[in-house]
Amino acid sequence: MIHHLLDSSEDLSRRAAELVIDELKQKKNLLLGAATGSTPSGLYSRLAEAAETTPGLFSAIRIMKLDEWLGLSMDDPATCETYIRTHLLQPLKISDDRYLTFHSNPISPTAECRAINDMFDTHGPIDVCILGIGVNGHIAFNEPAGSLTPHAHIATLTQSSQHHPMVAGRGGNPPTSGLTLGMTDIFRSRMILLLISGSAKKAITRDLLSQNITTALPASLLWLHPNAICLIDREAYP
Ligand code: PGA
Repeated sequence: MIHHLLDSSEDLSRRAAELVIDELKQKKNLLLGAATGSTPSGLYSRLAEAAETTPGLFSAIRIMKLDEWLGLSMDDPATCETYIRTHLLQPLKISDDRYLTFHSNPISPTAECRAINDMFDTHGPIDVCILGIGVNGHIAFNEPAGSLTPHAHIATLTQSSQHHPMVAGRGGNPPTSGLTLGMTDIFRSRMILLLISGSAKKAITRDLLSQNITTALPASLLWLHPNAICLIDREAYP
């Protein structure tokens, strides 16, 4: 992984959009792994603008959801599903046949993981994987632990993930588990863009930049990826 410092979150989003669009020009049916949350929303807005100015640019792109809160209904405003539909599928006019997703409230989460793995085997790997980082160092819902999991699995969420703003305002008990692609699934991506923005990420960015590779900070494994680019804005920079 290499990293770049950007002056602002706007600059970070613009640079990330340029990188995605450059890849898309080389591969029209690129499979984009889409993180959710506040960090990538500026990138997705830039892509929506590009869809307006360059008709046809996204006519073959495919999107894959990386993770999901377990136990919420699919149309709950807090799901990653709703986020991706709002921020990507609708503005980029992506039909459901170009969207690889999974259920937030499956009858059997274990069977859903098997279905995710089958879907990944058929349609993967991801070409460009957009990632954010949790304040605890997670990527997707690969949470800090003594060991990590290669493929789709049920993640037990740490307290900090349970308090993520996506679900914090919902009232009631926050989800305590999630579904997520695993570390190998993410690592097979041809290119990874790790986006880090905002002062809340300063402490974890300091740890990440120490280049100490540890499963206690899952994002640190990205130092081992041959084509990962980490964009950090000034507010997040330690
Ligand atoms: P954020 O979420 O972009 O909303 O900060 C990142 C994450 O927790 O993975």
